[in-house]
Amino acid sequence: MRQDQAGFATRAIHAGYDPAEAQGALTPPLHLTSTFAFESAEAGGEMFAGTREGHFYSRISNPTTDLLERRLASLEGAEAAVATASGMGAITATLWSFLKAGDEVITDQTLYGCTFAFLRDGLTRFGVTVRQVDMTEPDALAAVISEKTRIVYFETPANPNMRLVDIAAIADIARAAGAKVVVDNTYATPVITRPIALGADIVVHSATKYLGGHGDLVGGVAVGGTEDMARVRLCGVKDMTGAVMSPFTAFLVLRGLKTLSLRMARHAASAETVARWLDAHPAVERVFYPGLAGFAQRALAERQMALGGGMIAFELKGGHQAGVSMMNRLALIRRAVSLGDAETLIQHPASMTHSPYTPEERAAAGIGEGLVRLSVGLEEVADILRDLEAALEVRKVPAMA
Ligand SMILES: Cc1ncc(COP(=O)(O)O)c(C=O)c1O
Repeated sequence: MRQDQAGFATRAIHAGYDPAEAQGALTPPLHLTSTFAFESAEAGGEMFAGTREGHFYSRISNPTTDLLERRLASLEGAEAAVATASGMGAITATLWSFLKAGDEVITDQTLYGCTFAFLRDGLTRFGVTVRQVDMTEPDALAAVISEKTRIVYFETPANPNMRLVDIAAIADIARAAGAKVVVDNTYATPVITRPIALGADIVVHSATKYLGGHGDLVGGVAVGGTEDMARVRLCGVKDMTGAVMSPFTAFLVLRGLKTLSLRMARHAASAETVARWLDAHPAVERVFYPGLAGFAQRALAERQMALGGGMIAFELKGGHQAGVSMMNRLALIRRAVSLGDAETLIQHPASMTHSPYTPEERAAAGIGEGLVRLSVGLEEVADILRDLEAALEVRKVPAMA
């Protein structure tokens, strides 16, 4: 069977690797080397000139990282990929590669806190205009996009409030204006949403999250067309950021990918159970989860997402303080940032992941001060519910005598 015709889970395990290349080793070898010996001085010169294929220095390419890149390109339905040291490495290397002073980036209002800080404090220092619009309304983008706009950037679902952006609608508007669409697909993963098939040009990920899946690495990836990825590799990563993924990290992400579709199915099934349970709990004010029937963008979720995903955001009656008290009473669920791990993790975006925003910026982005973010793990869902139930139990006030 041709590998490119195989199904998703099969490609996540096999794409790009033939054991015959490595003495029959079932698991692809880990090439822990910084440099590569040239067979001749001329061969080395040709590699530098780009007229001969091959690896010559691991900041540019490495066989283990290269396999991960080809596998991720296959899973996202793209031509090529570039693995990076972190999700922020993928985002910054991509944006530095395509922007110059005088250009404009338009982003959604809700973004991961460090992406937001990079745009607000990093890019603007170098003469790039950053404009935020509510991309849940594609017309809002159509109203402001211009010939200065080089990049349209968003997350869907957005971290942390789960807003969805209609990738196909935004891509149509951006294409007509000559801008590239970059989508952060960390929350959904290619199991749930494939932005490139919907018209996006580049997908970025924090591989730290579901792609790695075990909370033991920090990594990232950009995925897209051959020319765009050559630019991200040779400009954004090689020269501008140096944000190269270590071969050891690539080895771990390759291991994680083998179970990605199984894990996402379990994360989503458990998250749906937890979201329904929270939705019915008297101490809970609001739940944001695309798999809930009452989710505000339910029709778009059904069109664009194969599953509801593993992330939930919710607000308790009693706001921030109620959220803090609940988090401090949890015994199984870990109070930690990051997401997509086997362990269920909970955090408070306003004081943690989204603290780079000012309170006013959070209000404009629709990130409530009391919002709590839950990354539903792979434990027994009954144990997750038991832990939440104990933490939400309203302490009985003794009756006055
Ligand atoms: C949606 C999203 N994008 C990007 C990042 C950045 O990834 P990393 O921490 O691997 O740099 C994160 C991290 O939390 C994230 O949640």
